Amino acid sequence: MSHSLVTMSYIVAAILFILSLSGLSNQETSRKGNYYGMLGMAIAIIATTSNVSVTAYVLLGAAILIGGSLGVLAAQKVEMTQMPELVAIMHSLVGMAAVLVGYANFMDSSINLIGVEKTIHELEIYIGILIGAVTFSGSVIAFGKLSERISGKPLLLPARHWLNLMLLIGVIVLGGVFLQQTESGDGSLPLLYLNHGGALPLFIMTFLALAFGVHMVMAIGGADMPVVISMLNSYSGWAAAATGFMLSNDLLIVTGALVGSSGAILSYIMCHAMNRNFISVIAGGFGTASGSNAAVVEGEVQPINADEVASLLMEAKNIMIIPGYGMAVAQAQHTVYEITKLLREKGKKVGFGIHPVAGRMPGHMNVLLAEAKVPYDIVFEMDEINDDFPHVDVSIVIGANDIVNPSALDDPNSPIAGMPVLECWKGETTIVLKRSMATGYAGVGNPLFVMENTRMLFGDANATMQAVLKALQG
Ligand code: TAP
Repeated sequence: MSHSLVTMSYIVAAILFILSLSGLSNQETSRKGNYYGMLGMAIAIIATTSNVSVTAYVLLGAAILIGGSLGVLAAQKVEMTQMPELVAIMHSLVGMAAVLVGYANFMDSSINLIGVEKTIHELEIYIGILIGAVTFSGSVIAFGKLSERISGKPLLLPARHWLNLMLLIGVIVLGGVFLQQTESGDGSLPLLYLNHGGALPLFIMTFLALAFGVHMVMAIGGADMPVVISMLNSYSGWAAAATGFMLSNDLLIVTGALVGSSGAILSYIMCHAMNRNFISVIAGGFGTASGSNAAVVEGEVQPINADEVASLLMEAKNIMIIPGYGMAVAQAQHTVYEITKLLREKGKKVGFGIHPVAGRMPGHMNVLLAEAKVPYDIVFEMDEINDDFPHVDVSIVIGANDIVNPSALDDPNSPIAGMPVLECWKGETTIVLKRSMATGYAGVGNPLFVMENTRMLFGDANATMQAVLKALQG
């Protein structure tokens, strides 16, 4: 393929990636967005590999076959509730790729640059490995936390901010030494097959960057994990862009920048939705129970059964459904929609209130409701309906906990203090579906469960919703 044809293909692929991102911003167009992305990626792969040798083709083909099969297997096996873990581990692969490409570039003796071009290339290698290593180790820890292999509690080392500062200074100083030694030829590490000047500072920096990634994510509490996920998404984009610079591949730079900036915007939106300051989240320590009296729940729980829930719904005119992580676990969305259809046929107004961090990933609830074919025009964002609760007769909270916790508003000691929540308690009656009195993701007690106008329907959300449906039909 000629050089200009490759450039043209890259431009087409970049446009398709932009169309893909804009398609993904809305449920109705998200399928189309995915197709644009797939087409863009196919064009990108064909254009990039068009001029390689036969041996390289065979190697690339084998790598695509192995990687693609693993991807298909993982995607088929993964449960919807495990999606955020999968995304986290995928981000770690992007980080690892940036580190490996960085070292491969560093060891590549066929690159013969001189003067300022050489310095720029070395700087690209250094920064690429730095971002890649932080993304890699941070994502592995995020995966561990999301899959509950590592405790969600933040690890708060004494003087942790000083430690971060020291790591940052260390990385900058080592960068200077690296550039000096690549000139002078000092600091090679023959034992590690790194027979190049500057290998020792590069190696130590990689180790420090890995430690920084671990420390950064370990210090972040469960309640702030949504921000971490989108932040790592952004880092993986910048890692890809850095790889693009190292490989002089314009499309990879553009794609990486698209992912990096959209991830950064998403992090900002997440922080805004949770009323958090981005820097404070990244510095760590939020999402911790800072006071021993945070959200102590005292009072009597009032259980209710499925038949009673059905009677309440039959009497109600205005009903709001608030789904959370438990609906995803129970896969109750189809039953919930059956109930919604039945109630709407009976002339009742039924809406869905979606909190921006409900579930375990951005848009988690929207995906589930779209899967169950719930019409988009009855699905509302928190800001659209939060003021309407005084007019709601019955709110049904399905496996949600933190996102309907009043202590976020009135308990300054709460780990989720300041986070906007769906204020369902302002309605006439709230019915909460969950299996026990256990806490949600942030590990905080919820005073909603003992309020006078709250009724608890205990059990698996799908089983209890099925029983309510039967009673309504009955
Ligand atoms: P949570 O606060 O995690 O509460 C979910 C509730 O569902 C639990 O209290 C659990 O209680 C119940 N549950 C679990 N399985 C169930 C089942 N089969 N049937 C019925 N109930 C079930 O969820 P939320 O209210 O959606 O809030 C989301 C939380 O996750 C927030 O703290 C948020 O910050 C965090 N988070 C969000 C994201 C994103 S981006 N959305 C990412 C990471 C973390 P029982 O065990 O008693 O049943």
